[in-house]
Amino acid sequence: MRLGLFGLPGAGKGTQAQKIAQKWVIPHISTGDIFRELQKGNTTLAKEIRGILARGELVSDDMVTKIAFDRLANEDCKRGFVLDGFPRTLNQARALEASPFSLDVLLVIDVAKAEIVKRLSSRRVCGHCHSVYSGEDGQDLIGNLCPKDGHILIQRPDDMPEAVAIRLELFERNFSPIMDFYQSLGRLCRIDGQGPVDTVFERIRKVIGQLNERPKRDK
Ligand code: AP5
Repeated sequence: MRLGLFGLPGAGKGTQAQKIAQKWVIPHISTGDIFRELQKGNTTLAKEIRGILARGELVSDDMVTKIAFDRLANEDCKRGFVLDGFPRTLNQARALEASPFSLDVLLVIDVAKAEIVKRLSSRRVCGHCHSVYSGEDGQDLIGNLCPKDGHILIQRPDDMPEAVAIRLELFERNFSPIMDFYQSLGRLCRIDGQGPVDTVFERIRKVIGQLNERPKRDK
C-alpha cells in the first residue's frame, strides 16, 4: 500500500500516519520530520532550512523531491509506505506520479480552519523524537517531558501565528491544483478529520480496507 496524506497544517497527518504505519507495518515518511532533522547543526544547509521552516515557507521542489525519492528508494519501502507532507505542490505531485513510487491513493484529511488554529496553538512536540502532543482541556504541556524518550517538549517555531498564516496561505494556493491532479487520476479520497483521533483513524481504516479489496493496478 502506497498512501499519501494531504491536508492543512495541523489536520492530523502526522498523528494518523503514525497509527497507519503501526497497524499496517509500513514506514511513516514525513518530509517535515526529515527537514527538522536536517536543520540541526551549523552547516549552511542547516541554517537555510532552519530559516525556511521557521518562516513557514516551503523548501524548493527540487530539494524536497530528491530527499523524498532517496528515502523512498530504501528497502523498507518495498512493501509500501505512508507519505506525510509530500507531495504538496503540483510539481511534486507530477514528479511523484512519474516515478516508481506513485501513490495508490492520496488521502485528504479535511478539517475546518478554526479547529486548525486551535490545534496548532496548543501543539507541543518532543525536540528529539518529534512525537506530537496536545494538552487536554487547554492544559499547556510546554516544559513537560516526552513520555517516550524523556526529552523536553517545545513549541514548533512554525506554530507561531505569523508562520501559521504563511503556511495556511501556501496550502490554499496549492490545494486545488493537487486535488484536480489526483482527481483526474482517479486516486483521490477525502475523509472528515474532525472528531477524536481514534474516530478519524476508523474512517481511514475503512478507506484502506476498500482500497485493499480493489484489483491491483499496473505500476
Ligand atoms: P510538516 O511537518 O509536514 O508540516 P505541516 O504540513 O504544516 O503539517 P503539521 O506537521 O503542522 O500538521 P499535521 O497535519 O501533521 O498535524 P499533527 O498530526 O501534528 O512540514 C513542516 C515544514 O517542512 C513545512 O512548512 C515546509 O517548510 C517543510 N516541508 C515539508 N514537506 C515539504 C514539501 N513537500 N515541500 C516543501 N516543503 C516541505 O496534529 C496537529 C495537532 O493536533 C497536534 O497537537 C495533535 O495532537 C492534534 N490532533 C491531531 N489529530 C487531532 C484530532 N482528531 N482531534 C484533536 N486534536 C488532534
